[in-house]
Amino acid sequence: MPQFQRTNLGILAALAVAGVLVFTVTGGPRDRATAGITPTATATTAHTPAGAVVATSAMVAAANPLAAEAGRVVLAAGGSAADAAVAVQMMLNLVEPQSSGIGGGAFAVIWDPAEGRLTTLDGRETAPMAADDTYWLDEDGAPLAWWDAVVGGRSVGVPGTLKLLETLHAHHGRLAWPDLLKPAIETAETGFAMSPRLAASIAAAQDKKLDLFEATRAYFFNADGTPKTAGTVLRNPVFADTLRLIGRHGSAPFYEGEIAADIVAAVRTNINPGILTPEDLAAYTVVERAPVCVPYRAYEVCGMGPPSSGALTVGQILGMLAGFDMPGLGPSPEAWHLYAEAAKLAYADRALYMADSDFVAMPTRGLVDPAYLADRATLIDPAAAMATPAEAGTPPWDEAARLAPDTQPERPGTSHFVIVDADGLMISMTTTIETGFGSRVMTRGFLLNNELTDFSRAPEAGDGTPIANRVEGGKRPRSSMSPTIVFRDGTPVLLIGSPGGSRIIHYVANALVAILDWGMDPQAALDMGHVVNRNGPTELEEGTEAETLAGALSALGHEITVRPHVSGLHAIQIRDGRLIGAADPRREGVALGE
Ligand code: GLY
Repeated sequence: MPQFQRTNLGILAALAVAGVLVFTVTGGPRDRATAGITPTATATTAHTPAGAVVATSAMVAAANPLAAEAGRVVLAAGGSAADAAVAVQMMLNLVEPQSSGIGGGAFAVIWDPAEGRLTTLDGRETAPMAADDTYWLDEDGAPLAWWDAVVGGRSVGVPGTLKLLETLHAHHGRLAWPDLLKPAIETAETGFAMSPRLAASIAAAQDKKLDLFEATRAYFFNADGTPKTAGTVLRNPVFADTLRLIGRHGSAPFYEGEIAADIVAAVRTNINPGILTPEDLAAYTVVERAPVCVPYRAYEVCGMGPPSSGALTVGQILGMLAGFDMPGLGPSPEAWHLYAEAAKLAYADRALYMADSDFVAMPTRGLVDPAYLADRATLIDPAAAMATPAEAGTPPWDEAARLAPDTQPERPGTSHFVIVDADGLMISMTTTIETGFGSRVMTRGFLLNNELTDFSRAPEAGDGTPIANRVEGGKRPRSSMSPTIVFRDGTPVLLIGSPGGSRIIHYVANALVAILDWGMDPQAALDMGHVVNRNGPTELEEGTEAETLAGALSALGHEITVRPHVSGLHAIQIRDGRLIGAADPRREGVALGE
C-alpha cells in the first residue's frame, strides 16, 4: 500500500483558489513551484537549477503544480498510476490549457510490473476520412502558410486523449472514473490563479489570433480586449459541466453524443472551416502498439513508435553514439560534436521515412537495426562536421518505401508527465494540442488541437514523389513526441519525456546521454543547456553553458545558432529503491511524492 497521508480530493480546489496550496515534496520544498517565476516574451520561465525530489513509494512529475498535486492526491488515496494520469491530464487541461487536453492527442508508454510487460497507447489525432493530399493546398495548388493553416477548424484532427485515458483506466484503473475528474471539476468551478506562464502565453498569442473566436476571446481576455494577467482567478464552469458529463458517461458523449455534435459545429467555423464529421469522431480508436526499444550500452531505451518519430530518432542518435566513448569524453565539445553529427544523420532518415506506418510502408525495424546504425556512424568524422543537409541512408528490410522527405519545421507546444505508483505501474505520457492554444477554436470549455498541421502541407516533392507524411483520410500525422522508459537488466530505471515540437527528440536524447553516459542526476540533466541539430545548424541554448561550446564547434565546421530552447522535461529515476524526480526549470512543473 502507498505510504501516503490520505487527502480529501475536494480540498485541492479550495486550496488552489485561496493560493495556499501546500506541496508535500519529499526532499524539501521546491521554491520555484510556488514562488514568483519570471515570464519572458517566449513564455519560458526562469532557468533556475533546483534540487531533485526523492521519494520511496510513488511519484508524479508534471508541468503545473496543481496538476502534479492532483496526481499525488490520487496516488495518496490508493489510486494507480493510471488513475493519477486521468487526474493529472484533466487538471492540465484546465490550468495549462495552451498545451494539452481532451481536445488533443497523446501517447503513453506503460510498464506493467504485474505482467512484466511494456506497451504503448496511441491516442494520436486522425485526419477526417474525406481528407486527401490536397487538404493543405490553396486554390492555386500552393501549400497554405503555417498560421493560415493553424487558425480555425481545418487544422483540427479527431482528438484521442480522452479515449486514451479511458483505455488506460479500463486496463489499470483502481478508483472510480468520476472521482478522478473531481479535482479538475472543483477547480474549474471555484477557479484557479492563472500562472505566469499561462498569462505570458496568452499575451504572446494575441497577435497570433488567439482573440479571433468568441468563446476563446471571452475566456482568455478581459472585456476591454486586454489579455488576462498572472494571478487572475480563472473559472471554467462550462468545462466543469463537460467533465461531469464525461464522469457520468465516459467518452461516449464526446465521440458520439452532444459533445461530438458541438465539436463538429465548432470545427465547421466560418474562418478556415474543417470537414470533420460525426462519423469521423465515432470511428476513432486508440491503438495499442508495440514499443520501439533500442539497446544503448547496458540499457534498453524504449518509447513510442510510428506514428511518432520519437523513439526511432532518439534510438538512431543513441545507436550511432554507441560506438563512441561518450562516457569517457564527458560533456565536452568533442562529445557534443559527435552527438550533433549523429543527429544530422538521424533527422535525415526521419524526414524521408517516418510517418504513420498504417499508411506508409516504413522500414521501422531497419531504422534501428544495430548493424545499420553502426554503418551510418562510419559517416561521422570526429575531426570535422559533415555538410548539411546530410542524406538519408538505406535501412534494411523489405517493407521500406523510399518516398520524399518532409522538410517543414514544427512548432513547439505540448506537455509531458511521468508517474510511478506504489505497485510499480509506470506511465510516461506526452500529450498535446500541437502549437500553443492549438487551433484557437474552443468548445465546451476546452481548446481543439491543430494537429493536422503536423502533416506535410505539401503532398509531394518537386519531382512528383509523394511525401511519406502527406495528408490521407484517417491517417495520423507524424509526431516527435518521445515518452520514454529506460530499462536495465529488464528493470525500469528511468521515465522521461518533453514537449518542444521536433526538438523534443533532442531534449530527451540530451538528457539520456547526460544521465546514462555521464552519470548526472536527473535534475542536473534537465537543468543542462541543450544542444540541438535537426540536420542543419547546431543550436546552442541561449543563456546556458551550452553557449560556451560555440567556439570549439565552429572550429570543427558547425554552423552555430544560439536561441532559447523551451523544453518541458519531466523525469523519474528509479535508483537504489528510491524514486528521484526532476522537473524542467524552464517551465512551472514539479515532482511530488512520498
Ligand atoms: N505536435 C507535436 C508533436 O506531435 O510532435
